Order: sequence, then structure tokens, then C-alpha cells
Amino acid sequence: QGKRDLAGKQILISAGGTQEYLDPVRFIGNPSTGKMGLGLAQAALHRGAKVILVHCPASWDVPLGVEGIEVVSADQMQHVMLERLANADITVMSAAVADIKPQEYSTEKLPKRSLPENLPLAPVPDIVAELGKRKQPHQSLIGFAAQTGDIITPAREKLQRKQLDAIVANPIDKTDSGFGSDNNQAVFLDKQGREVEIPACSKLEMAHYLFDFLVGNW
Ligand code: C5P
Repeated sequence: QGKRDLAGKQILISAGGTQEYLDPVRFIGNPSTGKMGLGLAQAALHRGAKVILVHCPASWDVPLGVEGIEVVSADQMQHVMLERLANADITVMSAAVADIKPQEYSTEKLPKRSLPENLPLAPVPDIVAELGKRKQPHQSLIGFAAQTGDIITPAREKLQRKQLDAIVANPIDKTDSGFGSDNNQAVFLDKQGREVEIPACSKLEMAHYLFDFLVGNW
């Protein structure tokens, strides 16, 4: 693809799974590897955008030419995303944010015997919903919905509730798709009611399809 259709645009992308630490050695997390966010960053860079990639600890390197910002927790991710939202033309929340965190953080490693049977938990902020409240009308905000079973109904509900412009409904119960895989399949939905099914392809291809969908030359 030789398109430079994102030249002059700033694209803000979140990637990976947040980690919510209980103490220095234990955290609540999820299996996201951030590869979808990496693919989005590569695709946007290739299409001429200025790219900011806010990512959780990952096994890959931030591509040359992309501004990488590493975060660990949902609270840290929210702080950076809110700070960077104002200059972003398109913001894509592909990160898998932990929905909960331990209520307390201990700077000392907790002895095993002192770990409670029922760990007190607290919710983390819904980052994309917060971005949805603050974004200006000229800015696009895209979310992901990783689902098992029916992927469309919950994705449409999230699109509305979180005030998104589009959402990627992503099955995670298919082989070779979703968390950790190099490939993905999805249905793109937008607030105008468009619905496009993308069959299994690499995460980089999926990223290009998403930008095609967003810039309207599908
Ligand atoms: O509600 P659910 O977690 O399925 O929504 C997924 C979308 O919301 C993703 O785009 C994800 O990055 C975002 N999200 C978020 N903050 C949370 C939970 C999810 O930004 N605490």
C-alpha cells in the first residue's frame, strides 16, 4: 500500500494489557500482547501520520519514527491519553485495560501467608469513555470490543455508551485471532451504522483495513 492519506494527521494509539500491581511481584493483568496496537502504529506511520503509541510492557520494540510512551497501570494510561488527546485527529484504544485493580498497593513484597483469601478490589477508570466525553467533534475516537459469542450486540452498545465514532468487534473465541495471535478477524461498526466484516488477516492488514474504513475509501 503506497497511500499517504494520513499525512499531516496525528494518531494516538494505546496498546497492550494494563498491569495492576498488588505489590512489587504480583499484578492483575490479561493476555494482550499489544500486537494489534503495534500494527496500527506501523500502518499509520506508513500512511504518513505522526504516531504516538502509549503501550504497556511488551515483547516488541516501538517502530522507529513512532513516539512510544510506556505505561503500566490503567491510571497511568488514562493520565497520558488525556494529556495527549487534544492534539490527536484519531485516537484508537486498542489496549486491553484491566477492569479491576487491587485496592491497596504495598511497596514491600507481601509474605504469602499475609495474602487475604478475598483480595479487596477497586474499579479502574474507563479510559475510552472519559476520552469520549472530552473529545471535540472533529476528533475521531475508536474502541475495540473483544468478545466471545455474539460480538455485534455488545460492540454496538459500547459504541453508543462510550461515545465512540467506530468500534472494532473482535472475536476472541476463534483460533488464530485476538489475544496474542499474529492474526485477527473483526467487524467494524461506526456511529453512522456502517458494518463491515473483515475476514482473518494479519494484524497489520487489519490495521490498514481500519484506516481505510475510517478515511472513507473502503
Ligand atoms: O467495556 P470493554 O472493556 O469491553 O470495552 C472495550 C473498549 O474500552 C476498548 O477500546 C478498551 O480499550 C476500552 N476500555 C477502557 N478503559 C477500561 C476498559 C476498557 O478504555 N477501563
